[in-house]
Formats: sequence, C-alpha cells, structure tokens
Amino acid sequence: MAEKRRLTPWMYGVAGVTFLGGLLFGYDQGVISGALPLLETDLDLSTLESEIVTSWVTLGALFGALVAGGLADRIGRRRAAVAAGVLFALGALIEAVAPGAAVLTLGRVVTGLGVGFASVVAPLYAAEMAPKRLRGRFVSTYQLAITVGIFFAYLADDALTGSDRWRLMFALAVIPGVALVVGFIIMPESARWLLKLGRRDDARASLLKVDGPEMADAELATLEADLESEAREGEAHWGEVFSPTLRRALWVGIGLATFQQITGINAIIYYANEIFAEAGFTTAEAQAKATLYAVGATNVLATLIAVAWVDRFGRRPLLLSGLVGMTASLAAVGLSFATLESQPDSGATSTTVGGIITVIALVVFIASFAFSMGPVVWTVIAEIYPNRVRGRAMAVATAVNWLAAFIVAQFFLSLVDAIGESTTFFLFSALCIASYVFVHRWVPETKGRSLEEIQERWVVNGDRMLEEEPA
Ligand code: BGC
Repeated sequence: MAEKRRLTPWMYGVAGVTFLGGLLFGYDQGVISGALPLLETDLDLSTLESEIVTSWVTLGALFGALVAGGLADRIGRRRAAVAAGVLFALGALIEAVAPGAAVLTLGRVVTGLGVGFASVVAPLYAAEMAPKRLRGRFVSTYQLAITVGIFFAYLADDALTGSDRWRLMFALAVIPGVALVVGFIIMPESARWLLKLGRRDDARASLLKVDGPEMADAELATLEADLESEAREGEAHWGEVFSPTLRRALWVGIGLATFQQITGINAIIYYANEIFAEAGFTTAEAQAKATLYAVGATNVLATLIAVAWVDRFGRRPLLLSGLVGMTASLAAVGLSFATLESQPDSGATSTTVGGIITVIALVVFIASFAFSMGPVVWTVIAEIYPNRVRGRAMAVATAVNWLAAFIVAQFFLSLVDAIGESTTFFLFSALCIASYVFVHRWVPETKGRSLEEIQERWVVNGDRMLEEEPA
C-alpha cells in the first residue's frame, strides 16, 4: 500500500524547512507595522522615508526572486536556501543596529533579497521533495506559514511597544533566519536537481533518506523517466513564455498577481497600526492589539479554512465571493473614514464608533482575502501553465506580484496624504470590482481537472472553462 505508507522523519523535515521559509517571509511582512510608528518618532522619519523603509524590502525581494531560480539551478536548492537564511539574518542585524534611515534601508533591502530567494526556493524544494499525493498540501503549508509569520511579527510588535524597542523587533528575525540555515544544512539536496547534474548516487542517497528504502528506487526511476522526456523535448526558452499560444495564460497569471496586490492587502498588513491610529486608537498598545487580532489572527484562521476548502469548492466561487467581501468591507472602511474626516477633531481622544466600524470592516476584508485572493491566486498560477514553461512563467508572475506590492507600499502614505484615507479605501474597493470583472471573464475553473486537461482545453483550444465540470 504505497499510497498509505508512513512519512519518514525526513519528510517532516521537508515540511519543517518549507514552513520556516514561509515564516521568515511573513515575519518580515508583518514586523514593519509595529516598528514604523516607533521609528517615525525615534529616527524622525518623513513620509517619504517611512515609505522607503517599508517598501524597499519588496524591492529587494523582487530582485531576489528574479535571480533565485537561476541560482538554485546553478548551486542547488540547499545552498540557495542557506544563502536566503544568511541574507535574511544579516539584514535583520543591520536593521537592528541602524543609526538612521539610510542604514535601515540597506538592512531592509538585504532582508528583502533573502525573502525573495526564500519565496522561490522554499516552494520549489517542497514541490520537488514532497510525495505526489501531498504536493498540494505542502505548497499550501507555505501560504499558511506566511500568515503565521505575520502573526508572530505582530505578537512581537505587541509585546515590544515602547520606545526604541523597534531594534529588538527587527533583531528577533535573526532566529528564523538562523533556523533556516541550520535546517537546510541538515536536510538532503533535492534528488531531482542532483540527477539533472548526473550525480545518480547522491540522488539515490537523498531519496533513501527522504522516501525510505521501499520507495527510493521507484522514485529514482520516475525521476529519470521525467528528466529523459524533458531532455527529449529540449529546454524551454524565454521566447516560449511570451509566445502567442501562451499569451492568455501569461496574462491571466500576471493579472491575478497584480490584482492580488493592488486591492490593498499589504497596505493593510504593513500600515495596520497607522490605519488604526487614524481610526481613533490613540495608544500604541491599543493599535498593536487591534493589529494582532483583527489582522494577524484573522489572517491565519481564514487561511486555514481556505487550505481545507480549496479542493472542495471551485477556485472561481472562492475568488468571486472573496472579492465581494473585499469590495464591501473596503467601501465600509472608506465610509467610516469619511465620517471621521468630517468630524472636527476626528479620533483625537478615544476609540470612536468610526474606529470600531473600521476594525470590523478590516476583519471582514482580511478574512475575505485570506480564503480567496491570498491562497487561490497562487494555486491557479501554479495550474495554468504547461510543464515545460511553468518555472519561468511562475517567476514572471512572482516578480510582477512583488513589483505591484512595491508600488502599493511605496505610495500608500503619500496617497493618503494627497487624497485622504476615505478616497484611498474607495479606490481599493473600486479595484476589487475591476478584479471581480477580470476573474469573472478570464479565470478558468481548474478544480478537479488534470494539468494535461487544462493545457489541452484552455491553453491550446481556447475553451473558456468558466463552469465546473458536472460530477
Ligand atoms: C501575498 C502576500 C501577502 C500575504 C498575506 C500572500 O498571498 O502574496 O503579499 O502579504 O498573502 O497573508
């Protein structure tokens, strides 16, 4: 009964390092929310400096993600992951000791490079090492780990609110960085990569460890057959990714990656404390608590639900219903800010009704995102490209996602300064409507279909595949 065979301890190790990769990504996304208000007073940051300190981590991640695939092919998955952990820990140390905005920004870029590496290498390693039947679960573990990382960062932010403690908030990120390095020093290299280099004995040794003695030789044979047929077809080149046959798949991937960011998720993840401050939460403690529970905990819980549901409900119903929730809740945040803005001394003294409505609306927003656009976008992007170009096409989508995240983080505070909170949130709400139209018209229903069927019908024959197949 190969299907039901027990997992070896090493397989838990694979899940563990994948989780760490997501955790460090998430910690870094979340930590800035609590650190920023302290930094602004302690280092006397301008709006532009606040935006740079927040957003340049995504710029680092963009470059990191662009080079990570090639690097992991050249030096191996393990060494690339170790490099990710080292960069991440080093960046955290630079941030923690930074005397001013310039060094802090340098630390953010270095950390970002580590995050970019990890965002490519951890899911790649998971996909190559996980047994087939658990591949989906391993990849969604990664998304869950991101939200847990954000939650841990908010916990640290909450525990450390008090002047100058921001250094400790950043320094704590050294722990998952070092854990990732140690984890990948212990873990074996991907057998698939070793085999590609012709190191058959090493590949077999890795499979013996991870898959266990009964399965290792069968796995080795499968991998060899896979690589042979890949070699027969020849290496895919970049031109193919942009070829007319793949144009629609490429655009759907790029569209989903962009809409996931421009509907505002990371404006809220990064600037949650600032938003709660504007909504009338006057103390740093109250802001950190609101962020921890309304954003952090909701995100983890709703992602757990999504991971359980994504294969039961279709991708489209999840995406579309999530977008309805996101549109409505962002409009409610906009309205509540409009009321706050129209009061003469808005939110200056205590948590107002507007503040409470903002918290409730943000809970609904985060929950709606976390069961739809958060995980499902990545699921669909992983399903719509043919095998040969999947790696490259996913790298394009990931890079576009970081770029969109960068633009939002870089301009959010200035946008708020220029047009006010309420209009900014109405704008995000309008972009959710645009995403709804996009998903409704273009995104195929991939649930329960094999990758071959998706390729044949949707990519090659241009079938729109908007409906679920009857059971
Ligand atoms: C997004 C991240 C975001 C996270 C929030 C992910 O799917 O790609 O940008 O910070 O969800 O949970």
